[in-house]
Amino acid sequence: MAINRRRFVQTMGAGAAGAWIAGRGLEGGLWPELAAMQGTSGAAAVSPIILSSNENPVGPGKVVLDAVRAALGASGGPAGRYSNAAGALTEAIAKKFGVKPENVALGCGSTQLLRSSTHLFTGPTKALVATIPAYEECAGYADMMGHPVRAVPLGPDLKMDLDKLADASRGAGLVFYCNPNNPVSTYVGARPTRDYISRVNRISPDTTILIDEAYFDYVTDPDHATHVPLAVEDPRVLVARTFSKAYGMAGLRLGYAIGHADTIKKMQDLDAATGNSSLNVLAMQAGIAAIAQDPGFIAAERARNTSSRDFTMKWFMDHGMKPADSQANFMFVNLGRPAKDFRDACAAKGVKVGRDFPPYEKTHCRISFGTMDEMQKAVVVFGEVLAKRAETAA
Ligand SMILES: Cc1ncc(COP(=O)(O)O)c(C=O)c1O
Repeated sequence: MAINRRRFVQTMGAGAAGAWIAGRGLEGGLWPELAAMQGTSGAAAVSPIILSSNENPVGPGKVVLDAVRAALGASGGPAGRYSNAAGALTEAIAKKFGVKPENVALGCGSTQLLRSSTHLFTGPTKALVATIPAYEECAGYADMMGHPVRAVPLGPDLKMDLDKLADASRGAGLVFYCNPNNPVSTYVGARPTRDYISRVNRISPDTTILIDEAYFDYVTDPDHATHVPLAVEDPRVLVARTFSKAYGMAGLRLGYAIGHADTIKKMQDLDAATGNSSLNVLAMQAGIAAIAQDPGFIAAERARNTSSRDFTMKWFMDHGMKPADSQANFMFVNLGRPAKDFRDACAAKGVKVGRDFPPYEKTHCRISFGTMDEMQKAVVVFGEVLAKRAETAA
């Protein structure tokens, strides 16, 4: 089916919506760099500092790696069988959140669940609403389906403007509420989020709100709470979560949605109908081990990220630049120059930073946080690159 892309994008006071949506699926793609680091590509063993994707630079913990090795098994073992651990994984997630298994849907990364909710809840007259920018998957998928997309500009502090978002939500099919918001790293507290949800329920009772909590574990704002309890009660609210961030399992591809049993059933029925329901045994066993591990793992990962974040944010502020508030494992900083110039100059010195994020690509760059050691090395490169430009301008 030929689809005339970007025909349907409506923006609320912002241009560049087409370029924003076109960013869908560009996250990641680091295999050549990783292969070189591991010496598997035959290329010289270079080891760039990778700050271009929002990942846990340390990766999964030992219990997860052990579970993956065990799931591989010996010859003739589980990896060669159609092993299905979906039931056990669903139960483990349900137990962790104090919900029932029928409130949980699994996905090959949360990307799959973002797509299936867009598929289910948007339509030719039921728009997808999202801030511009936000993680592009839902807007890109709706656009691909020919469903209208309403792109709502952010407020001046790069936080979601809930009044504008509520106005745009009227009559919409699905609101993608990305909190913390990728790529801008800002967060809207639990209280204003609850108020926004009640307002939309009131003014637009048929609209579903998908709350993407991918970076939930990194938030340090005191007004922080999951919307899982609301989602299991209200079929118009759905929460997406992923093992790709704090759990360090981006490459294993595992995510889940938690919601009202009716909403979850619709998602599972869609997966069954489209053949999307298979997860691989390594990811499923990894997920079971990850969710059951000592919660100290996540607390330690949050603390590790907070140190890298505070160090890097301070460096930029000390050098006269103002990053948006970060409640995630990445930051978004106004460099006053095109992201591409900065990115290319940093890449030439072995540091990879984020891609373009319209409509801010002329001024802002997204930098994901690596380990403290990586960030200490990276800021030296940032200093050299930014000083060069200052010299040229002088
Ligand atoms: C906000 C947000 N949601 C969802 C995803 C998708 O993650 P995954 O498919 O790895 O679970 C990402 C990836 O970066 C993201 O930033």
